[in-house]
Parts: sequence; structure tokens; C-alpha cells
Amino acid sequence: MGVVVVAAGSGTRLGAERPKAFVELAGVTILEHALRGVLAARPGEVVVVVPRELVDEARSIVAGLDLSGARAVVVPGGAKRSESVSAGLAALSDRVERVLVHDAARCLTPVAVFERVLAALAAGVAGAVPGVAVVDTVKVVDAGGLIVDTPLRESLRAVQTPQGFVRSVLTAAHAAGAAATDDAALVEALGHDVLVVEGDHRALKVTTPDDLARAERLLTASP
Ligand code: C5P
Repeated sequence: MGVVVVAAGSGTRLGAERPKAFVELAGVTILEHALRGVLAARPGEVVVVVPRELVDEARSIVAGLDLSGARAVVVPGGAKRSESVSAGLAALSDRVERVLVHDAARCLTPVAVFERVLAALAAGVAGAVPGVAVVDTVKVVDAGGLIVDTPLRESLRAVQTPQGFVRSVLTAAHAAGAAATDDAALVEALGHDVLVVEGDHRALKVTTPDDLARAERLLTASP
């Protein structure tokens, strides 16, 4: 199993001086927190995708980790998340048949979430993603803000990462080149089944300064 960790975003919404994955959370970079979580899932390979100017810094972060025999490479990402994922997929070795794509920004994701995604893949689905029930009622609106639909809340899930796929399916989905905010949408568009497994509130995506404060609280809270 291989994991592509995408960490090449600029993180403008966080308002920090550095790209988000290189901002510190309790004295350790978000990227290092994320990689420790990924390594707990015992991958055979990890590809870390970062801004081009931070490839060397990411390599030294990786060099300081206990990889337990995993192959680890660092590659530069692209302007869009999907380009960063494609760059990561291209750097996996031919041996990898199942791949997880994980946002470095979801740096506190518990290993149990990785395990649920992997178990679903092992059971034979083309894709599996973690998701949690939504607490708000969600509206679909038109360009003018008028509500055009109110999906049944019970049927909605807010999805997280790691998102897991049969590697050949995900590669084909990215080659098809459509735009999407997550990898599952690209795979769904090709007509493959993607299963939602139970996510976890600790897999929040650190996006705003409030998220960073929440992540710090989660880190200091007892497990
Ligand atoms: O921007 P957003 O919060 O959706 O980013 C989700 C993840 O994708 C982050 O971990 C970010 O570093 C990564 N990303 C990337 N390349 C981009 C944009 C985002 O690797 N061009």
C-alpha cells in the first residue's frame, strides 16, 4: 500500500507566513504530525508532495522519521490539489496496487481511520473514503443565492481523507482530467463504487487560525 500525502498548498486562509504544512502545531510542523500518522498505518511507500521551494526542507523532515522500512520520496506539487495528487501518483513504484491520498492538513487523523479505509479496499471496493454526518442543513443555491434544493440531511456525509483507491482506477480518474475538490468525485465520475466509512472529528482539515487552535486543543487533550 502506498500513501500520497499532499502538502503543496499555500494555506492562504491560515494567514501564516509559511505554506500551511510547514506551520508548527505544538512545536512540530503540520507535515511531520501528518507523516507520523501516516506511518502508523504501516505503508510500504509514502510520497510527500510539497511546494517546489520546500522540497529540501521536507526531505530533512522525512529523514528524521522512523520509516520502519517504508520507501519515502518527496516531489514538488502543482498549482491545484489535483495536480499535486497526479505528481504524487506518478512517483509511486509499480509495485503499489492500492493507494491512499491524504491531506497533510488533516494532520491529526487517527490510525483507525486509515485502517477502516484499508479494510474496505481489502473487501473489494474500488474506492473508500471516511465521512462524518453533517450537523447543519445544507442548501444547494444558484448563482444569485436562491435555494434550488435541500438534500435530506440524513443522506449527507462530510468527507475527509485518507481516501483510498485501487491505484489503476485513481490513475485513470486523474488522467480523465476533470476538476473536483476531492479524489472520490473523479472516481465516481468514471462510474466506480466508492464507499463511505466512518470518519473522525480529529481528522479535521486545518484551514483557518481557529482550526489551528482547535487542533492544538485536540493534541493536548487525553486520547
Ligand atoms: O486547499 P485545501 O485545504 O483544499 O488543501 C487540501 C490539501 O491539499 C492540503 O494538505 C494542501 O497542502 C494540499 N494541496 C496541494 N497542492 C495544491 C493545493 C492543495 O498539495 N496545489
